[in-house]
Amino acid sequence: MKIAVAGTGYVGLVTGVCMADRGHFVTCVDINEQKVATMNAGKSPIFEPGIEELMVRNMDRLHFTTEYNTAYKDAEVIFIGVGTPEKKDGSANLSYVYEVAVQIAQSIERSCVVVVKSTVPIGTNDKIEQLIRSNLKNDVTVHVVSNPEFLAQGSAVKDTLHASRIVIGVEDSYAAEVLREVYKSYECPLVITNRKSAEMIKYASNDFLALKISFINEIANLCEVIGANIEDVAIGMGYDSRIGNKFLNAGIGYGGSCFPKDTKALHWLASFHDYELKTVKAAIDVNENQKLKLIKKSRKYFDSLKGLDIAVLGLTFKPGTDDLREAPTLVNIPFMLEEGANVKAWDPVGVDNFKKLYPVGVNYCDSIFETLRDTDICFIFTEWDDVKKLNLTYYSDLMRTPIVLDGRNCYELQKARETRIIYDSIGREVIYNM
Ligand code: UGA
Repeated sequence: MKIAVAGTGYVGLVTGVCMADRGHFVTCVDINEQKVATMNAGKSPIFEPGIEELMVRNMDRLHFTTEYNTAYKDAEVIFIGVGTPEKKDGSANLSYVYEVAVQIAQSIERSCVVVVKSTVPIGTNDKIEQLIRSNLKNDVTVHVVSNPEFLAQGSAVKDTLHASRIVIGVEDSYAAEVLREVYKSYECPLVITNRKSAEMIKYASNDFLALKISFINEIANLCEVIGANIEDVAIGMGYDSRIGNKFLNAGIGYGGSCFPKDTKALHWLASFHDYELKTVKAAIDVNENQKLKLIKKSRKYFDSLKGLDIAVLGLTFKPGTDDLREAPTLVNIPFMLEEGANVKAWDPVGVDNFKKLYPVGVNYCDSIFETLRDTDICFIFTEWDDVKKLNLTYYSDLMRTPIVLDGRNCYELQKARETRIIYDSIGREVIYNM
């Protein structure tokens, strides 16, 4: 099929490339000329495992352009995958989605199906349809479909090609048939429903996962107080298939471009309809507190961070991505600097992005060893493999005082017991062995 995709961020680019891989002819549109030139050369502007190989392999069916008019005019299906960032009041900013809707309306010369992949508040698909219909230049018919995305950064290609389910929100059977054709090579369940339910499935899924993380983080905090071990607790819970063993890793809170934004957006939407979404509000509040958990722990060892040499391992919101959006480091590192600490930081892929935000003040290191050398305390914010594989003796050998605060439970407690360090992680016994 002839497909156009608006936006080449995580959702748009991965959708376009995977559609081409499944045999469709795809043109992806982005406003940034340099980015388009990079992508036409087979290079990905985002760090995402597997995406470049797939781009290169499908270049004969994949094209990138800034000219939306050419891309949309005769497409059979147009995906909208542009961002819906958070506004100051917590609601979703829909201006990019609406802008694309008007561009589509003014460009199309044939009837087509517009598929909204961007995460949009419930009811937005109806507005998009009205907006397109009222701005049409030609006598054509447009069907709008909600088709939310469930890919996670770092595993986006795998999540798309081997999707757990495909959700299709339609208001007519013709649109459903077109989407069945688009996804005919997929073997996963198709959930066909109305548009509002599809929009809600996306928010409810993300908010449920955020709630699961905040729940396990609270239980972890309680484990610390009463002397239980959160990892054993999570294993014990996870064997119950009604609970499941995924997303029960306690840590310093969820970040990224989705959970923080989508919890706030659904809470905002509920308030707008005079309904208080108490569980989602709790997930948000717990997460805000959890992000500062390691700073609170540091007070056990030092009254203030002033003058301390701090090692920071990991800057991104999770491993496998260079994305910093809502990463716990964005609240922790400014706090450290404000208190007068000297911060050295390491991350395998996130340094360039962090440098854009903090060009001065942080000493960026190329290796973990350089980062740890002669420091008073270490904060682990991201569970990169290089951190997890590190022999703990490097902490005792390189640091001035080997106090390791681990926000991602990277090490087994037994390993810490065998090393001369203080190891303070989330929801587990503190190992004092100095
Ligand atoms: C999330 C969802 O997992 C995807 O299904 C969804 O499609 C996507 O949002 C989206 O809406 O676009 P993503 O934000 O890329 O994907 O990352 P996750 O792997 O879900 O991790 C989010 C945060 O939760 C990370 O900070 C991670 O460290 C944290 N997390 C995750 C935990 O603290 N504990 C866990 O057990 C799992």
